[in-house]
Amino acid sequence: MKGVILAGGLGTRLRPLTLITNKHLLPIYDQPMIFYPIQTLVMAGIKDILIVVGGPHAGHFMRVLKNGKDLGIKHLEFAYQEGEGGIAAALSLAEDFADNNPITFILGDNTTDADIGPSVAKFKYGSVAFLKKVPDPQRYGVPVFDPKDKNKILRIEEKPKKPKSAYASTGLYIFDNQCFEFIRNGTPSARGELEITDVQNQYISQGTLKWELLKGFWTDAGKFESLFAANQYWARMRGIKT
Ligand code: G1P
Repeated sequence: MKGVILAGGLGTRLRPLTLITNKHLLPIYDQPMIFYPIQTLVMAGIKDILIVVGGPHAGHFMRVLKNGKDLGIKHLEFAYQEGEGGIAAALSLAEDFADNNPITFILGDNTTDADIGPSVAKFKYGSVAFLKKVPDPQRYGVPVFDPKDKNKILRIEEKPKKPKSAYASTGLYIFDNQCFEFIRNGTPSARGELEITDVQNQYISQGTLKWELLKGFWTDAGKFESLFAANQYWARMRGIKT
């Protein structure tokens, strides 16, 4: 399978840090943020990777990643997202790269030590959502479970004021090639973006979205609090007492 990492955006929630470089190149302990999703993909056996960049510091990625060989990547490509169309719009830039095949898609500010290799290996069709129990689900895409069948997701709500479960849909996804058609069918949300949860909801309507709990540590690092938490976790993992 091929992998796609989203590393665009202006990172406004992390200003002034993001005035000087792209959010995904900021440090998480001893590595740039983007190394973590790359390692998640490489560990899962995915070494053919497209990184969607954007914003004023897009060129910095080449200086850090070069051809990706040092990180175990066999083939590295970049795509440039113009403007701020949202996550699904960024993913649409990967259609040629995917070449009618499924893809594993990771938001570049997500860090995890979970091994998604088995899920990638057994994937056949539809989509996989990786869920994590969180104390603040209103910050995320939140699954609504069927009261009659607790294993069934009825829909995923994007940043609901009153979350209907305690789970976040993490920024790790497996999609078959239908995702590109679903993105074309989508309409921008109230915040003017094509939401990735809209794509997930189209798989739910089709009955082809499966979900799994993500085992291990996971956090996004798009806000100061979560960036700090990610730094603390990975520093501890490297034996530093914080
Ligand atoms: C995005 C998605 C959301 C998901 C989250 C995971 O939100 O829209 O569904 O739960 O990533 O990190 P963002 O935090 O980019 O606004």
